[in-house]
Amino acid sequence: MNTVLVGAQWGDEGKGKVIDFLTEEADVVVRFQGGSNAGHTVVVGDKKYVLHLVPSGVLHDGKHCVIGNGVVMDPFDLMKELEQVESWGFELKGRFHISERAHMVMQWHRAIDKAEEAARPEGHKIGTTGRGIGPAYAAKVGRYGMRVGDILKPDFLDLVRAQVAEANRALAALGAQPLDPEEMVKLYTPMVKALMPYVTDTIQFLHENLDEKKSILFEGAQATMLDIDFGTYPFVTSSNPTAGGACTGSGVPPRAIDRVIGVLKLYTTRVGEGPFPTELFDEDGETLRKRGGEFGATTGRPRRCGWFDAVVARYAQRVNGVDFWAMTKLDVLDTFPVVKICTGYRRDDGFVYQTFPADLAVLKRCTPVYEELPGWQCETSHITDYSELPENTKKYVNRILDLVGGKLGVLSVGPARETTLRINI
Ligand code: GDP
Ligand code: IMO
Ligand code: MG
Repeated sequence: MNTVLVGAQWGDEGKGKVIDFLTEEADVVVRFQGGSNAGHTVVVGDKKYVLHLVPSGVLHDGKHCVIGNGVVMDPFDLMKELEQVESWGFELKGRFHISERAHMVMQWHRAIDKAEEAARPEGHKIGTTGRGIGPAYAAKVGRYGMRVGDILKPDFLDLVRAQVAEANRALAALGAQPLDPEEMVKLYTPMVKALMPYVTDTIQFLHENLDEKKSILFEGAQATMLDIDFGTYPFVTSSNPTAGGACTGSGVPPRAIDRVIGVLKLYTTRVGEGPFPTELFDEDGETLRKRGGEFGATTGRPRRCGWFDAVVARYAQRVNGVDFWAMTKLDVLDTFPVVKICTGYRRDDGFVYQTFPADLAVLKRCTPVYEELPGWQCETSHITDYSELPENTKKYVNRILDLVGGKLGVLSVGPARETTLRINI
């Protein structure tokens, strides 16, 4: 069974937790896009693990973890993270693989990311994570990127010098400090040795696993509404976090995918800039942020919070072909007397959108249409079986399923590994 798992909203839906849950029955876990902009949290017992580049499956000894060709990988972030994973007591030898086709995020990409963000006028800032993601993908599609396999080449350090010279021109145009090419050479020299043991032809590796009927789990980072094609462009990330990205980002063909699982937080959050129709600026928003612990796992920024948006979820269901939902953070809604679901966006002239408009100027003219449901006002985090849920909780979940399509597969009622209900999968 090969499964693609994607975020259905604006990220931080709880993908890390669900991946950890599903890794139990997988042999290989693959990251296929994004980079260290991701922050995936897994809570086991009283320990909290946050992963940025390494697949969340790494917390299960013996499972293989792959960084696919679609990822942009900062070798320094990766090395730091690998050390951390080992310090947590997990063995990596022989089970961690990086595609030689993956692109690298270099120091100058990070510098350009920050300089570009600083140069954007108010209202145009994206609120990037500053991890160099945009410039690294720009280099990739511009065909001047640096691939992991390049570190094996004898002229790698000359390539570094040439790229720094080029990047310095861009930095100068942005009014930012240049980088010293020789310092960069010094920085990257030891990295080559450290990275080398992990560099693999991951396409060959994954196909061997497919041939042996092993189970592959694809771990999406970011989410549908941050997708470069389907998201709220230009307030997006620079990759395809949607289901199709799993194929282009790994070399596994579409026919090999058996199911798609969408992770859906039972309210909405967004971190960074950009449109967010159901955003709350009142006490309810504050309650969601506090109860949900809604602070970025990568940057620590407070996340913007709002009611559940069925327009977004329906759109995500279509774009990804979601078979099953993993619904998360139900417990965060436990105290609300009333819970709201956005079913459409009403334009100032009365027209109601049921699909997500491409034009952000249109969104600015819209207000959400809400359906109100009674809350359940009791604790749900101890519940271990769907049948034990309060009637009003079931009504809320079923109304969402009616509106967005797809089946319920997993329901998460707390951050810890044990607080996960398996429903239909
Ligand atoms: P990801 O980026 O999609 O992996 O999500 P993050 O890890 O950035 O953010 C999700 C946060 O919610 C983390 O702090 C998780 O520990 C936490 N979390 C996940 N599922 C649940 C849940 O069902 N209830 C609660 N209260 N917290 C959860
Ligand atoms: P996970 O995998 C939430 C947001 C940033 C910014 C925009 C572009 O943990 O769900 P980038 O650095 O990618 O160029 O920033 O995308 N963003 C995320 N928001 N969760 C993430 O990852 C994100 N990764 C990027 O805040 O608005
Ligand atoms: Mg996150």
